Amino acid sequence: MPWKDWIRTVEVEPSLYAADFAHLGAQIDVLLRAGVRIFHFDVGDGHFVEPITIGPIVLQSISKQIHDADAHVDCHLMTEHPEKHFAPIAAAGGDSVTVHYEACDDLPAVVRAARVHELQVGLAFKPETSAAYAAHAALASRVDLVLCMSIEPGYSGQEFMPEAYERIRTTRSLLPPDVPVQVDGGIGPENIRAVRDAGATLFVAGSSIFGREDLPRAYRRLLQELA
Ligand code: DX5
Ligand code: ZN
Repeated sequence: MPWKDWIRTVEVEPSLYAADFAHLGAQIDVLLRAGVRIFHFDVGDGHFVEPITIGPIVLQSISKQIHDADAHVDCHLMTEHPEKHFAPIAAAGGDSVTVHYEACDDLPAVVRAARVHELQVGLAFKPETSAAYAAHAALASRVDLVLCMSIEPGYSGQEFMPEAYERIRTTRSLLPPDVPVQVDGGIGPENIRAVRDAGATLFVAGSSIFGREDLPRAYRRLLQELA
């Protein structure tokens, strides 16, 4: 199913990396009831990024619950050789894979490999990577979304880098309107509207949702800032 059919005008995607893994199913459940339709799932390999995070085994255990509620899992691959993970991610119930520009020598081949598994594909780029280069590569490879990192990828709970605004604007200006710009890192009620005004429509939020006592309230608060 194409992105256009999953996403509403804007989507706030809770990043499960920041969840309490002892209560993962229950936390997903309350967020589904609050109206979440896309969960963000961060795979880190200990090479491309320092930490080893979560992978197909965890994905397998939550994807049915998420799909049963007509929601989707958007997988952010902070890994070298992302294509190696496509088959296990697809088998575990992942709906999309966002790969890093910096990790792909042959992006068109990586995108083709994802399509074989019927995965939607995104292209992410790090703060030090040129937004123009990433946007042109995204266009040439016909990806479904572009992820502009507003932190150095690796950990939840870092501070939003204000220079991201300019990179979001550049990215937005170079892409066709049907390719959404996603932003990941340090998003909270204090900056989500400005991130939207810069051109993003998909917002990843880890600690600003899971770091709060009342998860649905934290999710709704972010939506309210966008209203
Ligand atoms: C870290 C991940 C993010 C992370 C965001 O590199 O890509 O998705 O979970 O967490 P916050 O919203 O806390 O910055
Ligand atoms: Zn992420």
